[in-house]
Amino acid sequence: MLNLRDAFLHPDPPHIEFRAFTHGLMPKTVPDLMQAFTDDWAERGVDAWNRVPNHWRPDSGEIVGWWTLPEYLAEHFVAPLLQAPPHTCILQPNVHTTVQYLLSAPEVFATGRHVVITEAAFPSVQHSVKQWQDVFDLSLTVIPLTDAGFIDHAAVQEAITPETALVVLSHVGFTTGELLPTDVLRPIADAVHAQGGLFVMDGYHSVGSVPVDVQAIGADLYMGGLLKEACGSSGNAFVYIRKGLDLTPRMTGWFGDDDPFGFQPEPGVHPDVRRRFMGGTTAVASMYHAVEGVRILHEAGIANVRQHSLALTAQCIARADDAGMALRSPRPAERRGAMVILEVEAADRLCAYLKERGVYTDSRQQRYLRMAPFVWNTPEEVDRAFDIIAEALASGAYHNTRPETTAAAGPVT
Ligand SMILES: Cc1ncc(COP(=O)(O)O)c(C=O)c1O
Repeated sequence: MLNLRDAFLHPDPPHIEFRAFTHGLMPKTVPDLMQAFTDDWAERGVDAWNRVPNHWRPDSGEIVGWWTLPEYLAEHFVAPLLQAPPHTCILQPNVHTTVQYLLSAPEVFATGRHVVITEAAFPSVQHSVKQWQDVFDLSLTVIPLTDAGFIDHAAVQEAITPETALVVLSHVGFTTGELLPTDVLRPIADAVHAQGGLFVMDGYHSVGSVPVDVQAIGADLYMGGLLKEACGSSGNAFVYIRKGLDLTPRMTGWFGDDDPFGFQPEPGVHPDVRRRFMGGTTAVASMYHAVEGVRILHEAGIANVRQHSLALTAQCIARADDAGMALRSPRPAERRGAMVILEVEAADRLCAYLKERGVYTDSRQQRYLRMAPFVWNTPEEVDRAFDIIAEALASGAYHNTRPETTAAAGPVT
């Protein structure tokens, strides 16, 4: 088993942190990196756009500056998480923005205006498509979930028509933790491609915790964020764009122009497609902490991270079974991401009860308890947490806890 506890900072007093599905613990190196940002700014001012010390790969001898950090960090830290070839990845501020860039590229709708998503798509995808639906005259198919609440892949496949321009799926569902395996995804990708459409994946909850191979999946774009299982913070998302895919987003900005400092009256198309997914001036500070979590995961090895995560979530499921809690996530390991969702009455109260006892989970709709023990957790912590859960369920005492009075209660993102 891994034990990467010491690679992260822990609050005082420490608690059992089971929320890797959201903004998790801070990597220990982040405070120094943030200090480096203020030092670079103070010492170099505007020249930092062209050159700063290479804090991210100090031994590489490579020149970096704020201007090129989005490609540089994505190339060296994100692309290996996706097994993506060189020059295909770039940092983005969030998934929402990536979706806007994508939808603004006329090539996307060159062969049709039909878009397929599922009911489980995150709002950054689902709302964006619906917001533009009437403007772009899109025909939208939203695939309902199966009775068990999972993705109906056969229905996704059947929904694809000659008019289909886009199919967008989450690699790991945020409400269930369901992982769509490559042998399910590849035929969908092939079917979309056969109609000239694009296959786009939202890998927010897979990247960092599940080995991903964007080429094996057949993804044209693979987007996600570094804030959750990738152990980062806000302001850092990314997109992979398949080599050869020539999109010209109209939402592009001067940071994506081919001659940004020419300040030409007419926009120019940047030769690097990744760079066309840039708008105005980038937020620099967030890039200093973007990949510290990813660095830890790479050093541990993603296969080891996955094995550790699966062992802990399997333990959660076994203990939940013993406690009579219903499982909302898939049971087979190969269908699970890093999180486990359990169904329990008054889940918000149980979540608050656990928090008061130093066990941090999350609840949704007063019905679901979400947990993702991760690389900083041990099997002993899972047992301790479930001892408390079993006691709470047996006595019913948690029903008396008032979530609204628990410190820092409320939904998490
Ligand atoms: C599947 C998925 N996609 C995207 C996001 C976040 O989107 P954005 O970066 O637009 O905030 C989340 C956040 O929870 C998510 O679970």
